[in-house]
Amino acid sequence: MSETKSRNYDAIVIGAGAAGMMCASTAGQRGRSVLLIDHANEAGKKILISGGGRCNFTNLHTSPERFISANPHFAKSALRRYRPEDFVELVERHHIAWHEKTLGQLFCDGSAKQIVAMLLHECAKGHVELGFGRQVSKLEHADGVYRVSYGNEMVTAPALVIATGGPSIPKMGATGFAYDIARKFGLAVVDPRPALVPLTLGSDEALFKSLSGVATDVVARCGKVEFREAALFTHRGLSGPAILQISSYWKQGEEIGIDFLPPGSARLVDAKRSHPRSALRSVLAHALPARLAEALDERIGLSGELANSPDRVLEGIQRQLSDWRFRPNGTEGFAKAEVTAGGISTDELSSQTMQAKNVRGLYAIGEAVDVTGWLGGYNFQWAWASGTAAGIAL
Ligand code: FDA
Repeated sequence: MSETKSRNYDAIVIGAGAAGMMCASTAGQRGRSVLLIDHANEAGKKILISGGGRCNFTNLHTSPERFISANPHFAKSALRRYRPEDFVELVERHHIAWHEKTLGQLFCDGSAKQIVAMLLHECAKGHVELGFGRQVSKLEHADGVYRVSYGNEMVTAPALVIATGGPSIPKMGATGFAYDIARKFGLAVVDPRPALVPLTLGSDEALFKSLSGVATDVVARCGKVEFREAALFTHRGLSGPAILQISSYWKQGEEIGIDFLPPGSARLVDAKRSHPRSALRSVLAHALPARLAEALDERIGLSGELANSPDRVLEGIQRQLSDWRFRPNGTEGFAKAEVTAGGISTDELSSQTMQAKNVRGLYAIGEAVDVTGWLGGYNFQWAWASGTAAGIAL
């Protein structure tokens, strides 16, 4: 009774984020009639805040090994077919100036708004209809047709794309909607967990909490994985790129190792030879921020000049500093997680098209799927690649 209109499309894409816009524009430009809907009143909110407002839109070093998934092979096909160069070509076609910051990370010179404007322009080129600021209230599937009620409208299509991302940063409108739809259609979901997220430390690590705000270059390790980047002490624990990266691999109860003296940094035995009268604290203070050097020195408790310590003692300290063990008691959760690891199981989807193997016409793309990239533009590259894969198939 309240449904005043009913319109038909070739495809309905739910979620106007990175993956959804990419998918809708690709399908639209192939002549498909596409409706792109979102409960937010504007598209691409996460794009707008990404990369400190400049959007780290891809990474030149994209390769399947830089993605985490229960099936490490799943992302290969889409990533091979839509590469960072393809997105750069699109960015350049729209005259958006960009630069490589570090480690292959590409950012806009200007603003992330340019990326959203570009994607909306591409959607307009494909005559994609937009329906923002309305909730999906009902979703049904019968006789090969998806019926979606949103706002006061009912729309139908033979294809439905789930592009609603993961629940990280709920205050920006992120939801677990993708998992609800997946479960409704019987698709398995790999337990979602916060990733690229600061780690928290218990009260036994209180000394380090007093270092809040101190950052230093480290190697962070978890199991066999390691990242050499900056770590930052926070009032709750550890953050910074190295920690965010390692958090995606960390599981509750595990330890992480931090190398405070990464290769190329101070060697205590050498320091003893060159500066025998120095104390450990002053050697550390050359290599590390003074407050951190002081905190580590206090914990190690080596008094006196280096000359008074046998080499084997200094080598033991070197090993300790190169693999300082922390046992985080948790993470800062979805509220602070840049992405969600886990999600719709890749077992359920075709890696070529992102279509559900057992539910005809149902697709899932982007962060909603159990594929999570490293920090540094990889997650957007997955959104572009998976969105394109589905957009070509629709
Ligand atoms: P995305 O979250 O972008 O879009 C989902 C859309 O679905 C949203 O528009 C949302 O409103 C909508 N939606 C959700 N629930 C809905 C519902 N129930 N009904 C209707 N619509 C619904 N990555 C990267 O590669 N480089 C970077 O620089 C950054 N920086 C960054 C900073 C911050 C602060 C965050 C939180 C994240 C990043 N990321 C990033 C990660 C990146 O933003 C993320 O991986 C992609 O946006 C995922 O794209 P999707 O399109 O899958 O989801």
